[in-house]
Amino acid sequence: MFFGGTGDLAYRKLYPSLFNLYKKGNLRTHFAVLGTSRQTMTDDKFRAAIKKSLADSGNRADSKEASDFISHFYYQAHDVTDTAHYSVLKDAAEKLDKKYKLQGNRIFYLSMAPQFFGTIAQDLKTQGLMSTNKDAFNRLVIEKPFGRDYDSAKQLNDALSKSFEEEQIFRIDHYLGKEMIQNIEALRFGNTLVESLWNNRYIDNIQVTLSEKLGVEERASYYDNSGALRDMVQNHIMQIVSLLAMEQPVAFTDTDIRAEKVKALRSLRVYNVADAATNFVRGQYGAIDNQPDYRHEDNVPHDSTTETFVAGKLLFDNYRWSGTPFYVRTGKMLADKFTRVDVVFKKPLVDIFAFPQSQSTPLAANVLTIFVEPHAGFSLQLNAKTADAGFQTEPIKLDYMVDAAKSAETPEPYERLLHDVLKGDGTNFSSWPEVSYAWKFVDQIRRVWDLQEPQFPNYTPHSMGPAAAEELIQRDHREWIYRL
Ligand code: BG6
Repeated sequence: MFFGGTGDLAYRKLYPSLFNLYKKGNLRTHFAVLGTSRQTMTDDKFRAAIKKSLADSGNRADSKEASDFISHFYYQAHDVTDTAHYSVLKDAAEKLDKKYKLQGNRIFYLSMAPQFFGTIAQDLKTQGLMSTNKDAFNRLVIEKPFGRDYDSAKQLNDALSKSFEEEQIFRIDHYLGKEMIQNIEALRFGNTLVESLWNNRYIDNIQVTLSEKLGVEERASYYDNSGALRDMVQNHIMQIVSLLAMEQPVAFTDTDIRAEKVKALRSLRVYNVADAATNFVRGQYGAIDNQPDYRHEDNVPHDSTTETFVAGKLLFDNYRWSGTPFYVRTGKMLADKFTRVDVVFKKPLVDIFAFPQSQSTPLAANVLTIFVEPHAGFSLQLNAKTADAGFQTEPIKLDYMVDAAKSAETPEPYERLLHDVLKGDGTNFSSWPEVSYAWKFVDQIRRVWDLQEPQFPNYTPHSMGPAAAEELIQRDHREWIYRL
């Protein structure tokens, strides 16, 4: 059952992803999709919209396969704030349950304004929409944002917990559905070479960059209330960092992986006021050519102090990472659209090639780069001898990029995540303890920022952010691996 079933996300991502699962046989005959939203609409009109959504996402929407798939879609107008309306939904769900022999299994997908999440979850229970068949499952899928600080997130979680157990709640973080983010675990725990060096003895620092080329586009009214820290750091970046920082899970199961991520986040140092002020910097983009600055985008107040860029340093107080910082940065209107992780190893303690008459350039640090997007792959920078006469070293790269044909077959994040929900696998979703530690960390930065008036705008579009982001890392005698 999709709440917000006529929304942009549903048409653009969710239904095409379901269709991919259908084509691959992960959904067959025993399923029905009930879309709801305020709008009044017939099943036929809804199905026509589904057909369009499949066509828009590059499918042959007039094929028999597509029309068979679409025949499983139904629509019911619904006002989520009107408790009485839920009985209509309940009847519709029960009819579909019988017709498609669903045995009471229900998935409720909330893809709408977060202020309604709590009410819906409550009414689903009190109005009897959750299946009471003890062999059936009830699962709740929630889109971000999960609160806007720790207190509101806790309030929301308390509301959800009245109806759903933690293992029934699937909090979407679409970065966890990305191929190369999932590959972090394979890379770390599948390779002695990598995992044995994966600590503060050998790693100097780790850099996570989520760079976006576009501005806020048409999402300004949401974004201006959120800012880069809440929009990208609290969720996506914290999730990536916890996968990079966690200890090896006992087994590759959702419970074990989540337990290790939670432990990692627990040892993340929550900054005091002074450290928050020095270890995190923010930015807002200025104007360029015909493009307005952030404050002159549609629906943005002219005196907005919302950050469109953030960079920061994270420190873990644990045996593995003490002394090895994680630098993170993300922003809108930057040089390019990409996501990457650079793991910078320590240089050899002694550079034996740097004897006085040597012409060798000093040894470079080994860097392992995980390219998440737009191209997926790894690259390992090593020092090697140049092929010339004499003896000089130079950095060389061992590259592995997933080829285009293979990339085209890689499932989209939403397809993977929906498949996981169908299987009941919570590995790639954020658990409540993870979310709460992430908020506690982020709240502290926000608290300090809210006390200071920022000097905005402070970065040029198509750059890599404000000068402060450079100073942040240079202060530690380091530099960003990706630079313009
Ligand atoms: C979303 C943010 O969670 O992630 C957006 O709300 C951002 O502001 C988007 O643009 C980036 O996702 P991706 O997959 O395009 O890197």
